[in-house]
Amino acid sequence: MDEKIKTGILGLDAPLDGGLMNKSSTVIIGSTGAGKTTFATQFIRRGLLDGQDCIFISLDENKEQIIRDALNMGWDDITYFVEEEKLIFVDASGKEFKAFIRKELPDFVSTWLGANTRIAIDPLTPVVWATPSRYEQRELLGFMLKEMRKIGTVVATLEEHGPANLSAPETAIPMYLADSIIHLRYRYVEDNTRRDLKIIKMRGSRHSEKIFPYKIVRGLGLVVMRGSYHMKHTRLNVEELEKKVMEKLKNASPIVQERVRKLISKLNDEDLEDINLDELADMLVEEFS
Ligand SMILES: Nc1ncnc2c1ncn2[C@@H]1O[C@H](COP(=O)(O)OP(=O)(O)OP(=O)(O)O)[C@@H](O)[C@H]1O
Ligand SMILES: [Mg+2]
Repeated sequence: MDEKIKTGILGLDAPLDGGLMNKSSTVIIGSTGAGKTTFATQFIRRGLLDGQDCIFISLDENKEQIIRDALNMGWDDITYFVEEEKLIFVDASGKEFKAFIRKELPDFVSTWLGANTRIAIDPLTPVVWATPSRYEQRELLGFMLKEMRKIGTVVATLEEHGPANLSAPETAIPMYLADSIIHLRYRYVEDNTRRDLKIIKMRGSRHSEKIFPYKIVRGLGLVVMRGSYHMKHTRLNVEELEKKVMEKLKNASPIVQERVRKLISKLNDEDLEDINLDELADMLVEEFS
C-alpha cells in the first residue's frame, strides 16, 4: 500500500519522500507553458523504462503531436514503445466526456484489470467543463479518477487560468479529489522568467514544504533544483558530468550504465547553463541507482 514509485522527474522524488504513492492520483496544475505535458510524458517514460505498460489519455493535443514533442525532447525511444504497444494512446479530444467517462471508460478499465500501469491524462480541464453543474463535475471527476486508479498510478494535468488562484471552482474540485497536488508556477519576475514548483499535498505521506526552482532541459525534461549546492557559476560541462556520474555508478548494472551514458550523450553544454554540475550528477545517480 505504501509503495512509492519514481516520478521520472529529476530531483523531485526526494522532496516527495521517495516518489508518488503507487495507484494514487496526482494533479499537476500550472499555466500554459509551465511544463505540464512534459511532466506527464516524463512520468510515463519512466514507467516505460521500468517495463510498465502506460496509457496516455490526451484531451487536447493528438498522439502525433505528443510523440513529436517527446522526440524533440530527445526521447527517441518513445517510437519503440508505441510500436511495441507498451504505450497506448487514447485520443479523447473532441469527445463528449460525460458519455466517454460513464460508458467507454469502465469498459476500457475492465480490459486492464489486474494491471499496474502508469496513466497520464492531459489535460483534465475539459472534463471539468463537460458540465456546468459543480455537483456533476465532482461526481464525474471522482468516478474517472477512481476507475483509473484501479489499473495504475494517475498523473492528470490541470490548466491554471489567469493569476494564480487555486481556489477557482474549476481547479478546486479536481484538487480536492486528487491524492497529491503539484503546482508548477511559471511567471515573469522583472526581466526574468522564473519557474518554480511546490508540492501542495500528498495524502498518506510526508513531503517537502519548500518551493523549488525547476528548469526544462532538452534531453532531461523537467529538472527540479534543490539548491543545497553552491552555485559556482561554472558552466556545466557534459564531459565532466559523464566522468562524475559514471564514477558514482561504477557498480550499477551494465543496462543502467548504458542508459545513463546514452542520456548524457544527448545533452549539450549550452542547455545546461545555471545548473550545478555536482547537483545534476547527484540527481542522475539518484534517478538511476
Ligand atoms: N525540446 C525542448 N527543449 C527544451 N525545452 C522545451 C522543449 N520542449 C518544450 N520545452 C519547454 O517546455 C515548455 C512547454 O512545456 P509544455 O508543453 O509541457 O507546457 P504545458 O504546461 O503543457 O503548456 P500548455 O498548457 O500550453 O499545454 C516550452 O515552452 C519550452 O520552454
Ligand atoms: Mg500541455
